[in-house]
Parts: sequence; C-alpha cells; structure tokens
Amino acid sequence: MEKRGLLYEGKAKKLFVTDDPSLLWVEYKDEATAFNGEKKDNMTGKGRLNNEISSILFDSLHAGGIATHFVQRLSETEQLVKKTDIIPLEVVVRNIVAGSLKKRTGMSEGEELAPAIVEFYYKDDDLGDPLINEDHIRALQAATAEQVKELKKQALEINETLKSYFLENDLLLVDFKLEFGVTQEGIVLLADEISPDTCRLWDKDTKEKFDKDLYRFGIGSLQDGYSEILKRLGGAKHG
Ligand code: C5P
Repeated sequence: MEKRGLLYEGKAKKLFVTDDPSLLWVEYKDEATAFNGEKKDNMTGKGRLNNEISSILFDSLHAGGIATHFVQRLSETEQLVKKTDIIPLEVVVRNIVAGSLKKRTGMSEGEELAPAIVEFYYKDDDLGDPLINEDHIRALQAATAEQVKELKKQALEINETLKSYFLENDLLLVDFKLEFGVTQEGIVLLADEISPDTCRLWDKDTKEKFDKDLYRFGIGSLQDGYSEILKRLGGAKHG
C-alpha cells in the first residue's frame, strides 16, 4: 500500500489517497481544537493517543459484528480506512446529561438518560454545526429518510457495544459523536474516528473526566486523561 497525495486536512486529521482508489491513509495530528476552532493548541502525543484509542474501539466494534470504515492501524499515528462519501451529519448519542444538552435544556449534569437520546447536527463550520431534526435533514437533502433510519439504528447499536466495552474498563460513556459515510456500493458505514476528542468518558465511580472537556474548559491535562483511557483499554498491548 502506497501513500499518495493529500486529499483533505481537517482540525485533527490529514487524509491521503493511496494507490488503491477504495482506501484512504489517515494521519492523526497533534493539534487540539475546541469551540469550532476558536481555541487551538499543539498537544504532543495527542495524535498517537487518538490513533491508538480509535483503532482499539474500531476493533471492538468489529468484534461485536458492527462494520466500520477501519481497515488497520499502520503506525503510531496512522491508519488505513475504506473510502466513503461522508454524509454531512454529526450523529450524537447521549447516555448521561452533559455539555450542550445541559445548556440547552437546563437538565442536571450526570442525570441518566434511558433510553439514550440520538441527535443530528448539520456539518457546516460556517453555521457552527447546528442541531437539526429529520424534517430539516429532508429539506437540506443531507440524507434520505432511509439513511436517517439506518444512522439511528447503527448509532444505537454502536452505543450498546461501546457502553459495555467501556464499562468493563471502569469508564462511563457519557455521550459521543459519530460520522457516517456511504461506500461505492451504497452501504452506510461508520467513518471518521471514535476517540476522547469525540466522546465524553468519566471514571465509573468518581466521575473524573478523561476526555476533551479537560482541554475545552482548562480543567486538567489532555494527555494525562487520554493516556489513562488508553491504559484502561489495554493500550500497552496495542502500543
Ligand atoms: O457539545 P455537546 O454536548 O453537544 O457534545 C456531545 C458529544 O459530541 C461530546 O462527546 C463531544 O465531544 C462530541 N462532539 C464532537 N464534535 C462536535 C460536537 C460534539 O465530537 N463538533
């Protein structure tokens, strides 16, 4: 497999084409951003931590029978994925109240949500990724009604698998964001990354935060938090 030209550079990752048109080469960067890029810093080691954690989580989903775009980890900061056309929606699943849900509704942080809540946000940096509903998705032609049904179904299945997996490692999966793509064959597949950049993860007992909120709100070391997650997920075996 050969890495070719840069296809796209995002806030946390670079995407390269390869000599195989169906595969992309992903490089996780050391840059941390928050609040739609308003806060930005270099964080040595973040790319490695997110690549390792994301690879472990994709492997755990595959073991649970859930297909994703992940093919293999290539190095400390790189992975190989299947090429998809990204659906312009962020799918957020919430098990516990935190973040923007708390702000929007006044519910108390830490309150359990059962069943889990699924939300859709329209992927558009200029608009600040607004919360939208299924009627907006139809009007925007961001996805078909059938795809929306599939996104919800897969997001809830992914939630069940990840929630159990994290709990086995003494972590609470508070909420997370997913992105999906469509393959050349028209299959909807989990894409992007699953990492402490895109999940809220708390200690099961103390509720200590180990995710990007440490950086967003300046309440602790991002590298220490992410290292703790990698350690709990058996990182040494994957390092
Ligand atoms: O900020 P909010 O509470 O809506 O975030 C919900 C979840 O989605 C959090 O785990 C957050 O890390 C993730 N998220 C993300 N990218 C965004 C917005 C939210 O990964 N652009």
